Amino acid sequence: MRLKTKLAVFSGLLVFVALVIIAFLLLFFEKQFLLKTIKENQKNVSSNFVSVCSESIINEDDLLLVNYLDSLKKDSSIKYAVFLDKKNKIIAHTQTRLVGGFANASVRDENVIETTAPVAIGEKGFGTAKIGFSKLMIEKTVKQSLDLMLNRIIAASVIVFVIGVIISVFFVNMVNKDILQLVNGARAIGAGNLEHRIKITSKDELGELSEEFNEMAEKLKELDMMKNDFVSSITHELRTPLSAIKGYSELLLEEDLNDIIKNYTLTIRDNSVRLGNFINNILDLAKIEAGMVELDKKPGDITKIVQETLDFYKPLFNKKNIVFKSEHSGILHSINVDSDKIRQVLANLIGNAIKFTPEGGEVTIETKTVNNKAEIANSEQFTDYVEISVSDTGIGIPAEQLGKIFDKFYQVRGISAKGTGLGLSIVKGIVEAHSGRIKAISPSRKSGQGSEFIIWLPRQEIN
Ligand SMILES: Nc1ncnc2c1ncn2[C@@H]1O[C@H](COP(=O)(O)OP(=O)(O)O)[C@@H](O)[C@H]1O
Ligand SMILES: [Mg+2]
Repeated sequence: MRLKTKLAVFSGLLVFVALVIIAFLLLFFEKQFLLKTIKENQKNVSSNFVSVCSESIINEDDLLLVNYLDSLKKDSSIKYAVFLDKKNKIIAHTQTRLVGGFANASVRDENVIETTAPVAIGEKGFGTAKIGFSKLMIEKTVKQSLDLMLNRIIAASVIVFVIGVIISVFFVNMVNKDILQLVNGARAIGAGNLEHRIKITSKDELGELSEEFNEMAEKLKELDMMKNDFVSSITHELRTPLSAIKGYSELLLEEDLNDIIKNYTLTIRDNSVRLGNFINNILDLAKIEAGMVELDKKPGDITKIVQETLDFYKPLFNKKNIVFKSEHSGILHSINVDSDKIRQVLANLIGNAIKFTPEGGEVTIETKTVNNKAEIANSEQFTDYVEISVSDTGIGIPAEQLGKIFDKFYQVRGISAKGTGLGLSIVKGIVEAHSGRIKAISPSRKSGQGSEFIIWLPRQEIN
């Protein structure tokens, strides 16, 4: 689940739980309050009844009592009201027909709450006043009030919930924007773009994190520059003695040497050539990274460059018993490129194809022209491209490492192959300096196995 969804769900739940708790508490306290009010009311009615009873005795006014009982009858929560003398004889009753009879104290009605109060004048007691309140009516009143309240709470909750969700979505978006910036920043730095900086939009912890991130990126960039300077000055210093070693070993080989010394000298020469190539690669890469690749662009023939490179590798193809094919279509001459650099690109790709293809395999080079492919990033600038594909039937490249093989010094894990991991980063640098693009696919589209490298170079014909 995305962080954004998690935060939105979490805050939505929080609002919901808060509303439920508030509703529950409100209903609980409202019920307590209602029950208390009803009890007080019953007490008042009862004491009023007692006063009316005593007054009617003092004034010998039955009518007062009768009128009062009539008024009580209108109250639906009162089931009965009765005034009894000391011997339990009914003096007055809301049900007039019972007057004169005797109350049966042992009969109890489950559905009635009865209040009993003594009626006395001064010290002299006259009897008791009893009122029976209907339990059902009380419960009904309480329920009605609570239902009304519940409806209001639900209406208010819906409004609060909607507002809460809107606010939390707004908040989550705000936080998420900053987090996404950091994620993209980390991704860019991880991909080697040390120039990437994060725009600081807030002064909170996320803002601080962004500031720290930018400082880290700055430090990394400085370190990277220091390392590049260091490497290129060291390699420059190595070049001179190395060309002396190579030159003198070649001179030695021209002499009449015995087999042992000749073998030693060959080893010295081959290793100095290897070391020389490595140093050249490092220097090439340093130039590419500093954005200082100098291209000597001239109208060149791609078919010819491919053919020359294949010719160069012919002995190696034969040695490993690898079949190589080349297919060309479209207009491939007069392409504005630095032919030496493109030859270097092809040599790297074909060299890799041979290196990572077992004996008896196949390597195919295909060149053609293509228009306006969506895959090509620079398509706004150019519409016509030359597509060069180098595909093999070799060991292939694991999908999850396809994105990394263009990083300098990167070699696919678990494969013991000679090399330095510099070739493809130089290839990419040269292709991009030509405003082109490169992509690796595995398995190859051609054979369904091995790998395929595709290059697109803008085709700017010079007439
Ligand atoms: N044609 C290929 N088939 C399989 N793996 C390849 C191929 N080309 C390149 N790779 C992988 O990419 C890595 C980087 O290639 P590269 O930069 O040329 O370095 P190197 O050839 O010095 O190892 C190689 O080590 C290899 O793991
Ligand atoms: Mg290589």
